[in-house]
Amino acid sequence: MAQGGDWQQDVLRELADGAQDGTPLPSRPAASEAIPGGTAEAIPGGAAPDEAPESIPAAPPVPRQSHDPRVAAPAPESVPTVDPRLAIALGRPQHGDSVARRTGRSLRRLAASAGQEVAEQTRLAQEVQLPVTTGRVVAVTSIRGGVGKSTVSALLGRTFNHYRHDPVLTLEADTALGTLPVRMGAESVRWSCGDLARILTPAMQLTDITGYLVPVSDGGWLLPAGQGRVGAPLDVRTYRTVTLALRRYFAVTVVDCETLPGDVARTAMDTAHARVVVAPMTAEGVNGTRQVLDWLAQLPHSALASTVVALSANSPDTTLDPKAAAAHLREPGVPVVLLPYDRHLAQGGTIHTAMLGKDTRTAAVRLAAEAMHRAVRVR
Ligand SMILES: Nc1ncnc2c1ncn2[C@@H]1O[C@H](COP(=O)(O)OP(=O)(O)OP(=O)(O)O)[C@@H](O)[C@H]1O
Ligand SMILES: [Mg+2]
Repeated sequence: MAQGGDWQQDVLRELADGAQDGTPLPSRPAASEAIPGGTAEAIPGGAAPDEAPESIPAAPPVPRQSHDPRVAAPAPESVPTVDPRLAIALGRPQHGDSVARRTGRSLRRLAASAGQEVAEQTRLAQEVQLPVTTGRVVAVTSIRGGVGKSTVSALLGRTFNHYRHDPVLTLEADTALGTLPVRMGAESVRWSCGDLARILTPAMQLTDITGYLVPVSDGGWLLPAGQGRVGAPLDVRTYRTVTLALRRYFAVTVVDCETLPGDVARTAMDTAHARVVVAPMTAEGVNGTRQVLDWLAQLPHSALASTVVALSANSPDTTLDPKAAAAHLREPGVPVVLLPYDRHLAQGGTIHTAMLGKDTRTAAVRLAAEAMHRAVRVR
């Protein structure tokens, strides 16, 4: 288990106390309840001043205030993430690897020495579990839409949560119709980033915060950008307010950003501790991603040094040579992790970790390890 600093101890103790008391984590407030919170004015509090990235203005000192449930607007409605008629039509999840592939792999495993593989897996797990003293933010984006940002974010969120014993948040910072809640298995969403920006106060405890988040089935928490309707996109101010405040409570926050060069995506890339750029396995996708890397090289805060590329094969019919594509992307000095085509991922819907192909699982752990290494060790 990762050892954290004092803040983490406090957070874990708080959760443990709640459990010992028999006090359950608060469920999301019922629709009839009012929003806890002080004023309608967002409070960008949270991160220790010395830890805040330089480009984020320091939070003004704010008086500690109680989050009185009687104040403010009524709670938003709970909205299903997928129309139930479509959820039925999705069919059963299929495994990422075919039966023949799984059988062949088991036989090979019996014949070969697995020592080297185990050593590598242990090394990667240790990187994913690196201790943190303040919350780390890993931003995921791409130069084009539909290339796998939400899929990669969901894989990272689940991987961090599986390996780490401190709180992990997966946050959607995409416009209203993102797919992250579905990929994370949320059946419905209610509170969004915009709502939390109005509600958060420095006086809140982790147990107050989690009442507004979606609990992920195999652990961790999710905060959607909206309620799955066409509406006003998330703005930079809301993004900064929410990420700065939530860093106090979560050891790792994975952010599913909008496509570059959107303002929120640029802000997220500029202020994150580590960045994952998703590149599709096409010539134009790799070419565009290389331009993003060249842009990152010009940013302050060692932006390129804390960047990882996920080269994602979203189609079984890609013809681009993965080695040539990876070599092109590696030239500026970033690691490239190949995310193979996976039938389970291609199917859409909730990602079930147990249904992922073996190479996909390995790639997810490698990606999480590379990102965490950079989020913690690169300054
Ligand atoms: N490794 C993979 N193997 C197979 N299919 C994949 C893989 N990665 C992503 N996909 C598929 O690619 C499609 C787009 O993925 P996703 O929604 O994650 O992209 P996105 O970049 O978040 O899109 P948007 O810009 O709309 O938010 C999905 O249908 C997903 O199932
Ligand atoms: Mg998406």
